[in-house]
Amino acid sequence: MDKQIQEAAAVINNGGLVAFPTETVYGLGANALNPIAVAKIFEAKERPSFDPLIVHIASFDDLNVLSDNVPQSVFMLAQKFWPGPLTIVLPKSKMVPDIVTSGLETVGIRMPNNEVALQLIRAAKCPIAAPSANKFGQLSPVSAKHVRKQLPNIDYILDGGFTTVGIESTIVAVEGNVCQLLRPGFITLEDIEKALPGVFEFDYSTPQKLVSPGLLKSHYSPKKPLYILSGAEEQLPERSGLILHSNEATTLEASCVMYTSQTGSLVEVAANLFSSLHAMEENDSVTQIFIKPVEIKGLGVAIMDRMRKAAYQYQPNADKE
Ligand code: TXA
Ligand code: MG
Repeated sequence: MDKQIQEAAAVINNGGLVAFPTETVYGLGANALNPIAVAKIFEAKERPSFDPLIVHIASFDDLNVLSDNVPQSVFMLAQKFWPGPLTIVLPKSKMVPDIVTSGLETVGIRMPNNEVALQLIRAAKCPIAAPSANKFGQLSPVSAKHVRKQLPNIDYILDGGFTTVGIESTIVAVEGNVCQLLRPGFITLEDIEKALPGVFEFDYSTPQKLVSPGLLKSHYSPKKPLYILSGAEEQLPERSGLILHSNEATTLEASCVMYTSQTGSLVEVAANLFSSLHAMEENDSVTQIFIKPVEIKGLGVAIMDRMRKAAYQYQPNADKE
């Protein structure tokens, strides 16, 4: 892997794009301090320019490069959860080009918990801006093969196998001592409160304005219609794919049945959610996909967030955004 990391770092330093594994999903990376390189990310993803990028770092010192006057509470938060699936939105410094933040005065920063990602950032010697390495609105990639499917022409793909967490990082904004959830993920606000009691107040309200386009109702969608089971279905249409989360008996028949977990473990469900949707998308015997919901509790909040967004555009009365 050393040689590939050196090659990939050279691509980043020459203003090119590198797809790389993180613990959550694969990212499509560029030198975060090079606005022209960052512009190529938006072009490759066909991503609207109002959607800001997360900047990935490998050293805690880089927090002070990307943001000014980082409060002690944020250092404590970073030290507890980094490297890990938590993005912290902070006021940006002058070093961060506007294109990275879509003109916002804030920047999302995280240190990924993946050795390939960390080595790439260290070898490139610059922070790496990276959204998930998918076309805008489509399923996030959790393997190098998924990246190739949607983005066959990017400069370099580092293959680190399947990601382990499987859904994108939790995003929080910290303002003063208030910590607000912008996107649910593997780490919950309860986890933060438990790890750092008394440090933050938590704002559980959904932000009024669209501060995080991850809040779009439709996102992460497979190319085939996806429906969340209501529990009332007696049978499924022909050529249906069925995704379940434990091997308990079902009377529903389907052309293809996949299990994200045998036991209902939410950690396994999260890890296998996008890969099961990718597999159904690629399965020629499947025309539409049905998926069982999970309880909206703990990690189930983030899983249902992704599931609802993936299914949203296929609902009968979906107002398209
Ligand atoms: O796990 C992850 O976060 C993955 C890996 C590659 O790190 N990245 C990822 O990036 O999911 P992306 O671009 O697909 O989603 C990033 C989300 C977007 O919804 C964006 O709006 C939000 O982060 N975001 C980035 N900067 C922000 C900011 N300054 N304020 C509010 N939201 C921000
Ligand atoms: Mg994404």
